[in-house]
This record gives sequence, structure tokens and C-alpha cells, in this order.
Amino acid sequence: MLFKENQDENMGQFKAAITAVAGYVPEDILTNKDMEDIVETNDEWIVSRTGIKQRHILKDPTKATSDMGVAAVNQLLKNRGIGAEEIEMIIVATVTADYPFPDTANLVASKIGAKNAFGFDINAACSGFIFALTTGAKFVETGTYKKVIVIGADQMSSILDYEDRTTCILFGDGAGAVLIEPDDTYGLQDAVLRGDGSGVQYLRMKAGGSLHPSTAETVANREHFVYQEGRTVFKAAITGMKESIQDVLKRNNMTADDIDYLIPHQANLRIINGVADMLDFPREKVLVNIEKYGNTTAGTIPLCLNDFQSKFKKGDKIILTAFGGGFTWGAVLLTWAY
Ligand code: UT7
Repeated sequence: MLFKENQDENMGQFKAAITAVAGYVPEDILTNKDMEDIVETNDEWIVSRTGIKQRHILKDPTKATSDMGVAAVNQLLKNRGIGAEEIEMIIVATVTADYPFPDTANLVASKIGAKNAFGFDINAACSGFIFALTTGAKFVETGTYKKVIVIGADQMSSILDYEDRTTCILFGDGAGAVLIEPDDTYGLQDAVLRGDGSGVQYLRMKAGGSLHPSTAETVANREHFVYQEGRTVFKAAITGMKESIQDVLKRNNMTADDIDYLIPHQANLRIINGVADMLDFPREKVLVNIEKYGNTTAGTIPLCLNDFQSKFKKGDKIILTAFGGGFTWGAVLLTWAY
């Protein structure tokens, strides 16, 4: 049940519950077969090594990450039956902001007409959504705000090197959004969030930041794309997600048996299955849609919530987990509110 009382009287009394979910992927689809015309690869390699069959690509040059966020949020508001002016805060998790500055959240707020909202972006790569969700939840739990939107959105096609077969086959474009509101019973229960900046050497965009500003040379050297040492990231991702799930279970005196659904970041089906098997999560509890979208970075977890929300029942215990560039990683435990 949602609280209706005055927020100040209940300061610190609330849980932050997800009360609506929506998602958006662009129309255009790039299949593995299409990829065979772009780089030296094949459907069998991509499916067996990653689980990916296709990805959606935003091709309209007048549109960007904020527009995918807007499409997801417009659906979110419709699902919840509320207007944009009721939103107080918007957080966008992304590594592909429309501009280096200003932030994408303000663009989204303006485009949807959320004139009473402020916002900001969080850059935690593939862990961005769980970092942003945890951050947004704090404003609800303290009674500060009653309607916070958290978006995970990335136009990965804008930073992919379509001459590098080790990365370009992995990623796609998409956005997911959730509304967080106060609830007296259900919502975020705990979060284990971690980071290790030494991981920068294995996964980053080499140029375009203050260390190596954009020059004709950085462009010629193809340094404005995703760079990844896949095998190292693969191993770190399994360890990071496994340990953060173990931590959050232990802190809450729970085991995998107590969890109804595990929603992992969708980077590689072998990573997802590896983590699930090590922790004895049966496959039917592990939600996977990587075959449709590939890795949409901050978009994967909210897109999964959106695709599978009809399965969830009030009170279901769900763990979200992610690992990404930074390195960043973690796990969030929540109870479903509707
Ligand atoms: O979301 C952010 C976090 N990112 C991740 O979690 C991604 C983590 N890494 C991975 O998912 C995997 O490491 C990859 C999918 C990127 C690569 O899979 P892998 O099993 O680690 O392959 P590998 O890098 O060890 O490469 C195996 C072989 C190599 O050939 P040789 O050296 O054995 O002859 C590669 O050149 O596969 C080759 N290869 C390809 N072959 C066909 C690499 N990419 C491709 C490709 N098509 N697209």
C-alpha cells in the first residue's frame, strides 16, 4: 500500500518501491547474419559465445540517448496513469549522454514536460542502473520526494567500432525506466555497490575525456570507441556479481531459495549462467533477454524488468546484479510492490 500521509511526519519511515516499469528499443534490428556482412564473424560464434541473436540500433541521426529515455518514460507515465508535472526527480544512468555536457536527465525532463523535476546523470557503465536506482531510492526513503524516475539508457551504436569484431557484436541500443514511490511494506531492501578504478585498463573509451581530449589523431587512431579486454572482464564479471549476490544474501540471512527472480546484467549468457550455477539459482529463476537486445549497458536491467514484469507478484523477492566498466558492480535486493 502506498503512503498518503505528509512526508515530513514520516521521514525515514518509507521503503522506496518500484511502482511502474517501461522500456523502449528502436525499430531497426541488426541480426547476427547482418553482422556477418560488417565484420568477420558468424551467427554460430556469436550465439555460442554470448547468447546474442540480434540487437536494436537507433539509426535516426536526429535522435540520441535522451530520446530513447523519453520514449520509455512516456510509456511509464501512461502505465502509472500520472502526468509529467508530478515527477520531482529524474536520474539517467548512461555512458552515452547526448552531449559531454549538459546531462541527459535535464534533456529528458524538458522533453517530457517534467517542469517540477530536477535531475542528473550517473556514469557507472553497465552497473549504472543499480547505482542510480539505489541513489534515487534514498530520496524516497528519507521522505524528500514521492515520485522519482530512474532511467537506464544507452545508444551503444554511437561508440562502437564496427571494424572491431570483439566488441561491435556485443552491444545494442535501448532504454528502460522505473518509477519509485514511497511504500510502507515493499521496495528496495538492501544494496551492495562496489568499485575498483584499476579496472579502467580493461574497459574504457580511450579518448574524448580530459586526459586525452579529442584530436584529429585520436579520431584517426579509433580511440573514441569501446575498448575491452574481453577475457579479463569476463572473469571479473563472474566474480564481482557472484560475490555481491552472496554478500547481499548473507547480510539479509537469505539463501538463493528465498529469491524468486535473479535479474543479471545482460552482457554474456555464459557469464549469467556461470553466476547462476555457482550460486545454485535454478535457470527458471534467472531472467534473460540478451538474445533480443545484446548488451544495452545501463539499459539491460530495466529492459529485463519491463519484459518480465507480468511474471512478478506482489511480495516477490528479486535480486538485480550488474558488472561493468570502472570496474563497477553490485547487487540490489528488493520486494516487488504490485
Ligand atoms: O557489460 C560490460 C562487461 N562486459 C562483459 O561482461 C563482456 C565480457 N567478455 C565477454 O563476454 C567475452 O570475453 C567475449 C564475448 C567478448 C569474447 O568471448 P571469449 O570466449 O572470451 O573469446 P576470446 O576473446 O577468448 O576469443 C576466442 C577467439 C579468438 O580467436 P583465437 O585467438 O582463438 O584464434 C578471437 O579472435 O574468438 C575470436 N573472436 C571471434 N570470432 C568470430 C573474437 N570475436 C569474434 C567474433 N566472431 N565476433
